[in-house]
Amino acid sequence: MPQYHLTTFGCQMNAHDSERMRGLLSSLGYHEAPDRDAADLILFNTCTIRGSADERFMGNLGEARRIKRERPDVVVAVGGCWAQSQKDDVFRDFPFVDIAFGPGEVNRLGELLARERIQAVGAFTFDGRFSGDLPSLRERPHQAWVQISVGCNCVCSYCIVPAVRGRESSRPWQAVVDEVAAQAADGVVEVTLLGQNVNSYGRDLPATERKSFAELLVAVAEVPGIRRVRYTSPHPKDIREDVIAVHRDVPEVCRHIHLPAQSGSTRVLKAMRRTYDRDRYLALVDRIREGVPDIALTTDLIVGFPGESDADFADTMSLVTAVGYDGAYTFVYSPRPGTEAGEQMDDDVPPEVKSQRISALIDTVQSTARARLSRHVGTVQDVLVEGPSRTDASRLSGRTTHNVTVNFTGDAEPGTIVPVAILDSTSTTLTGRSARVAEPAGAA
Ligand code: SAH
Ligand code: SF4
Ligand code: F3S
Repeated sequence: MPQYHLTTFGCQMNAHDSERMRGLLSSLGYHEAPDRDAADLILFNTCTIRGSADERFMGNLGEARRIKRERPDVVVAVGGCWAQSQKDDVFRDFPFVDIAFGPGEVNRLGELLARERIQAVGAFTFDGRFSGDLPSLRERPHQAWVQISVGCNCVCSYCIVPAVRGRESSRPWQAVVDEVAAQAADGVVEVTLLGQNVNSYGRDLPATERKSFAELLVAVAEVPGIRRVRYTSPHPKDIREDVIAVHRDVPEVCRHIHLPAQSGSTRVLKAMRRTYDRDRYLALVDRIREGVPDIALTTDLIVGFPGESDADFADTMSLVTAVGYDGAYTFVYSPRPGTEAGEQMDDDVPPEVKSQRISALIDTVQSTARARLSRHVGTVQDVLVEGPSRTDASRLSGRTTHNVTVNFTGDAEPGTIVPVAILDSTSTTLTGRSARVAEPAGAA
């Protein structure tokens, strides 16, 4: 039996593509190797969003080179966004790499392996653009990702994603709903719809087969067995009233929106080509909170964008407190090849200023999140049980509708939703105890 070893970098799209790679390899007769040294196929699913992602991958690729030197028959395959960005150079720069394929070519992995003649390949004729049409080996039994679109039509000046993932293309809604139905039949209760800009979903579909993102959310929520629907990421410019209404009216659609702001400075947002300004973003937040008062909002923020002044950065800090985020991912700007900012703007914020700004931002994000999460203490939250807590196996872990992790005591089966009394909070997690009322003795 041939064995593969897969390492995944990057975002949820990549994690999901990796599930497809596992599904595909498993149907080709591959088993998972315990480590790289035991593998016949060393596979990487790569990310290139920031320079640090490239560096992390280079370290791992070095180990593959060492193994290839010791065992020349091992096949080294590199997929994902970094591979796409290096298409023209990868075999020249890294001659020990046998196979390279982009994020839109997961379906070709079987064929590429056959070309390497390592394994007789069964008939694999997927010609869809969506890795979502391939077989999948899911990471978790009760939760699933569902691809609804690929690519991105935005032109955010810092971002390499459109160059490596291509133009936006929506998956037909019936294919999405059918996949969710199959997952539900297989025990899935929570789905997360995936796309680079999920809420522009459907605009490229033929009029007769079109659903808006809000309609898609409803269609997925109506699939029997599905109890929670999440999605990531929307673009603030495309959040319409109908999406807010769905959050308000459809109980399966979770009380959480990840709403990437990137900056709180109108000037920087303009240079980033985000197409909204600070006031429009804040107005959107108000409309969301009006519709769904208790919704959790999280975000992505970049510090050190070219030309970011102290005043611009102060605007980002004040955005965090003005919105009161439940959490935020914070990044230091990294110039990317081929992007507008990377090629045409001076990366002029000194490294020490970048690092001061990111520390200050993280502090503010943490104190805002701590204040936000503390509102749950004393309440009872419905928690979707995921399994034993990673930090303390005697406790269970799961998430609330707000996407907050709860570690709690009590008995409950993974995949069920149970009430948990919230006793304490930090800036990222809650603790509690099961509040399920015991069945009265002798009850049938
Ligand atoms: N499509 C998604 C996510 C894109 S990548 C979205 O638009 O929300 C995830 C995050 O990485 C972005 O939201 C942004 O905050 C960050 N990012 C992207 N390019 C970057 C760069 N060149 N330097 C630093 N952070 C970057
Ligand atoms: Fe990148 Fe902007 Fe597209 Fe997100 S919306 S993937 S940040 S170009
Ligand atoms: Fe990275 Fe590609 Fe995702 S660059 S963040 S893996 S879309």
